[in-house]
Amino acid sequence: MTLRALHDAARRTLDPVHYDYVAGGAGEERVLSANEAAFDRYLLLPRTLRGNEPRDTTARLPGAGRAAAPVFVAPTAFHRLMHPDGEDATARAAAAEGAVLVTGTAATTAVDAVVAAAREAAPDPAVWFQLYLHPRPEVTEALVRRAEQAGCTALVVTVDSAVFGRHTRDLRNGFTDLPPGHAAENMRDLPGAPPGTLTDIPMSAAPTWRDFGELARTTTLPVLVKGILHPADARLAVEHGASGVIVSNHGGRQCDAVPAALDCLPAVVDAVADRTPVLMDGGVRRGSDIAVALALGATAVGVGRPVMWGLAAEGEAGVRAVLATLRDEYDHTLALCGGRRNADLTRDMVVRRGETR
Ligand code: FNR
Repeated sequence: MTLRALHDAARRTLDPVHYDYVAGGAGEERVLSANEAAFDRYLLLPRTLRGNEPRDTTARLPGAGRAAAPVFVAPTAFHRLMHPDGEDATARAAAAEGAVLVTGTAATTAVDAVVAAAREAAPDPAVWFQLYLHPRPEVTEALVRRAEQAGCTALVVTVDSAVFGRHTRDLRNGFTDLPPGHAAENMRDLPGAPPGTLTDIPMSAAPTWRDFGELARTTTLPVLVKGILHPADARLAVEHGASGVIVSNHGGRQCDAVPAALDCLPAVVDAVADRTPVLMDGGVRRGSDIAVALALGATAVGVGRPVMWGLAAEGEAGVRAVLATLRDEYDHTLALCGGRRNADLTRDMVVRRGETR
């Protein structure tokens, strides 16, 4: 099934309020649309007769050895709203496809169970844990220890969420709490944080780069920073110990007046890619989108909503289909562009629509 067909199947299956929760964005959803539209503005300028066989799409990522493709599962909340198998299904699917799974604070399955599920499908899966910096360091630290003990191989600190995004559809639908029986399981029994509602996920404007630096020092895991748009912040991330930066506008769910994630990528690459891997997410829907992002300097790209649609439509098999489709499409595009390895896609091989070299 194509990603589009999985989306359509998910839409038919889901409670419309839960569909809107995933599909929607902040404000007028300008950034949500811009993320996908940005990929339409770029075209690939293939090279030819480069003897590009055999091909190798694997990508070296922090805490992941070699991933099968330069694609990771971006952290998204509440997988049990999509399918009763929830994060377990996503974890098994990602591990089986050799993709990094970023599970997060807002998961409806505790991180140790998520890692255990991934290990059912592969002996050495890469599961990263996403968290926010809590204004009380002991809460952040408790989450970090939980992720370490569970066997996560990297941490992802999301820094674009000083306050909770204003999701227009959720406000209209009155969707502010998880349905009974679901909880943000990683928030259980943390110092002073009751589980159970959407707004309990810690988000705060108080933390600073210094707090990030302290977190990076208190763990042996690589720590990536997610939600970077400004190149100066990418430099600060590296200076404070980040092992990677993820260019992201949270899938258009935070500030509705920022550029498309793809448009922020080249400047961040220029600022730090010689020192740390630069990843991106937002609007990736096809293999050629992956190729464009890599040509602009990304090491790997994340997918958020497509994984949720696969999960809602067909559970574990649906998530596997999404990841396998993207990998196959990407390999196909790489072949047509004369590439053998991801690094063969270079900036001279993308042009803006209407322009050539
Ligand atoms: C997200 N995203 C997100 N990011 C994060 O750091 N922590 C989180 O808890 C969530 N939760 C979340 C829920 C849902 C329903 C969505 C759609 C997204 C953002 C996510 O990691 C990623 O940045 C975007 O989803 C990427 O854009 P696409 O692939 O959805 O276009």
